[in-house]
Amino acid sequence: MTKIKVLFVCLGNICRSPLAEAIFKHKVSQRGYHQFLEIDSCGTSNYHIGDTPDERTMTNALENGIVIHHRGRQLQSADLEYFDFILAMDKSNHQNILRLPKADQHQHKVFLMRSFDASDTHDEVPDPYYGGMRGFQEVFEILDRSTESFLQYLEQNYLNQK
Ligand code: 4NP
Repeated sequence: MTKIKVLFVCLGNICRSPLAEAIFKHKVSQRGYHQFLEIDSCGTSNYHIGDTPDERTMTNALENGIVIHHRGRQLQSADLEYFDFILAMDKSNHQNILRLPKADQHQHKVFLMRSFDASDTHDEVPDPYYGGMRGFQEVFEILDRSTESFLQYLEQNYLNQK
């Protein structure tokens, strides 16, 4: 059985997307879907290649029971071919993904993360990098909801057919 491959994308790959990856992995393993999914994250920029996530992201995640293991890496055009679902944290990331070579063929795989967050009408996960700790908790809650809804979407459309 081929795995469903999911990639979370933000700008730096040290705040939002590694957190989304860790929360989603936690939900996936809690529900026993571990062997059906491959999950990763990356950034559209080259600012933090090889870096561990932002300390504030890791501290906030731990307070919510989530441990993050990730090193920053930059999105490549090969990711568009490899992954099945590419989830952008905001519109700027979304546009940058679609500017990659050969992106036209893979547009159907690229979504805004919050298009799966049915609880309100916002469409972006705000960048917490230049703000205070409250912003990190807000991002945690948004990603907790959005990844939950995304997993439910996969359950309804793919996972229960396997
Ligand atoms: P992220 O946050 O895209 O959620 O990882 C940022 C991290 C670093 C920078 C910007 C946003 N930066 O400009 O270095």
